[in-house]
Amino acid sequence: MTHVLSAVAWPYANGPRHIGHVAGFGVPSDVFSRYMRMAGHEVLMVSGSDEHGTPILIAADEAGMTPQQLADQNHRIIAEDLCALGLSYDLYTRTTTRNHHAVVQELFLGVYENGYFVEQTTKGAISPSTGRTLPDRYIEGTCPICGAGGARGDQCDTCGNQLDPADLIDPVSRINGETPEFIETQHFFLDLPALAEALTAWLDEREATGLWRPNVIRFSQNILEEIRPRAMTRDIDWGIAVPLDGWRENPTKKLYVWFDAVIGYLSASIEWARRSGDPEAWRRWWNTADGAQNQALSYYFMGKDNITFHSQIWPAELLAYSGRGSKGGEPREYGVLNLPTEVVSSEFLTMEGKKFSSSKKVVIYVRDLLSRYQPDAFRYFVAAAGPENQDSDFTWSEFVRRTNDELVAGWGNLVNRTATLIHKNFGEIPAAGELTDVDRAVLDAVEATFGTVGDLIGRHRQKQAIGEAMRGVAEVNRYVSDLEPWKLAKSDGDAERERLATVLHVMAQCVADLNVVLSPFLPFSANLVDAALGGSGQVAPMPRIEEVEDLDGGAPYPIITGDYSEMPAWARRPVQVGATVDKPTPIFVKLDTALVEEELARLA
Ligand code: MF3
Ligand code: ZN
Repeated sequence: MTHVLSAVAWPYANGPRHIGHVAGFGVPSDVFSRYMRMAGHEVLMVSGSDEHGTPILIAADEAGMTPQQLADQNHRIIAEDLCALGLSYDLYTRTTTRNHHAVVQELFLGVYENGYFVEQTTKGAISPSTGRTLPDRYIEGTCPICGAGGARGDQCDTCGNQLDPADLIDPVSRINGETPEFIETQHFFLDLPALAEALTAWLDEREATGLWRPNVIRFSQNILEEIRPRAMTRDIDWGIAVPLDGWRENPTKKLYVWFDAVIGYLSASIEWARRSGDPEAWRRWWNTADGAQNQALSYYFMGKDNITFHSQIWPAELLAYSGRGSKGGEPREYGVLNLPTEVVSSEFLTMEGKKFSSSKKVVIYVRDLLSRYQPDAFRYFVAAAGPENQDSDFTWSEFVRRTNDELVAGWGNLVNRTATLIHKNFGEIPAAGELTDVDRAVLDAVEATFGTVGDLIGRHRQKQAIGEAMRGVAEVNRYVSDLEPWKLAKSDGDAERERLATVLHVMAQCVADLNVVLSPFLPFSANLVDAALGGSGQVAPMPRIEEVEDLDGGAPYPIITGDYSEMPAWARRPVQVGATVDKPTPIFVKLDTALVEEELARLA
């Protein structure tokens, strides 16, 4: 048995999430996790809201709230939205829990004791007009590495390198345009050069698998060439305290938000285990690096602006804690921790040809989309036309076209005519008589989609995977059009009636199979399709929101969780002869093309 960790990027809780965010990390991670569960693996899918750092502070200031109030509000909205999209997290939590704080401090201490932090005096920016510290990302200038303008103090979006604001050429404050003043300040730097050899070895080994997307592995290897120590503490009053005497009590020194956020994958696994009643259960996904019998794999899902943190900072933290860098060392209580198996990064989604921007109103929030459209229509669009390997564009006209021409006219139509014909002629799934070659051919073609589609999802080729599944749908639609069962139904002859039963049985079997194959992509409709064919309507379990107590005495909060143990296996299951088939109602809503104009008007 394989233990599979689905580690999904933690959305910032500085506001509600738009469809560009969930297209990158949300839908792909859920499709993968649902498939892996059906394929028989022990999947643990974790994530949460990323609630520290300056984005939260700034948004809280603007809203006139405390950072905690703002994070509370947005965490709830984000959790509800992700749940409404059907994303099957085992645990979606947050970074302001006491558990997360404790796990982060434990990681810090492990890294510290092993000698992978160096304390350095650096220059921190303050605003001359207010005297307050200026957050890194609110300083802008020319990138010292690639020379591009408009680089932020924390990261250059042109070359992707992480930066220190003091290194920017001609820095200015993005808040009021003034030139920041740099003062001396003490920080802990992660000694990345002492981990470079181990990181290189790990990336080389990963490259050899041939599984990573070429641009992701290339990018990760490139940034190794610029490797240098990175500050993991900040002059800020919102975040996790540095767990050392003299630092712990200092209200203006906290751990860097990225140092803490990536540890969320581990802390959420630990929280999940503690809530499950087996507090050590998380180790099955994390402590198997050195040849334990049960294999453990971990997949990290994110947008491309997160690659650096997942292919360098996070593995460096894990290596340092585990004592696997050039300075050696010993792990503390968490033991030697597994490095990522694969960093699955998507590209960006644009909207009607433009970059998403909340301020410019080029945005559609998940909540607004789901208030007007079916979650599966959106999931289908993302799988079929999302930014898997290259940037892709969401347009309303394409959304309508894909929904109507592919989902409604292809899959919806097949389900509808199958259920209608069975209902009218038998009222229940009929037994098949003798199969002909055409029957066997379509059954075989459909059964083969388990192999092709499953393999493609396992290799993160979801666009191709859904294409193969829809090709199966088209093949069955062709079978139906060729055999014209409605003509058989008009005849009173016994032979025709038996042939009709056989054809409808074959159709029912094909629909049932394709429904399982499509269920990772279209979980909501999978349940409806199953019910339409006389099943229990429970082939794709859904996540739920639960209000829970903080495990260590903090404030209660909502989580996403669910029981996904009752999924069908990823294989053909014979349809139940005799199961009642009622008159069907359409599974997918056909969209009026007039809505394109309406939606475009909302953006103006
Ligand atoms: N909050 C970050 C973003 O939205 C992602 C953090 S992923 C994490 O870009 F795992 F590191 F938290
Ligand atoms: Zn640059």
